[in-house]
Amino acid sequence: MAEVKITVRKDGPYLIVVDGSLTIVDQEGNAIPHREGRPVALCRCGGSTTKPFCDGTHSKIGFEGATAAVGASEAAEDE
Ligand code: FES
Repeated sequence: MAEVKITVRKDGPYLIVVDGSLTIVDQEGNAIPHREGRPVALCRCGGSTTKPFCDGTHSKIGFEGATAAVGASEAAEDE
């Protein structure tokens, strides 16, 4: 089974590293091409012109993400 690691980068994208293949699809299920075998950075700021991928715009617009990831149990308590 492939291992997937998703890192929430400080004030930046979600960085996805997969030991295996990764498929990214749009809302209609169409595959979105990406470089296989390389980490994938998905935009978290909404400013990228190459969504869903990060293009570095977060740095230019001063995006400030959450200061830390919230654990699933903490998130559930807030609901
Ligand atoms: S997170 Fe990098 S451009 Fe949005």
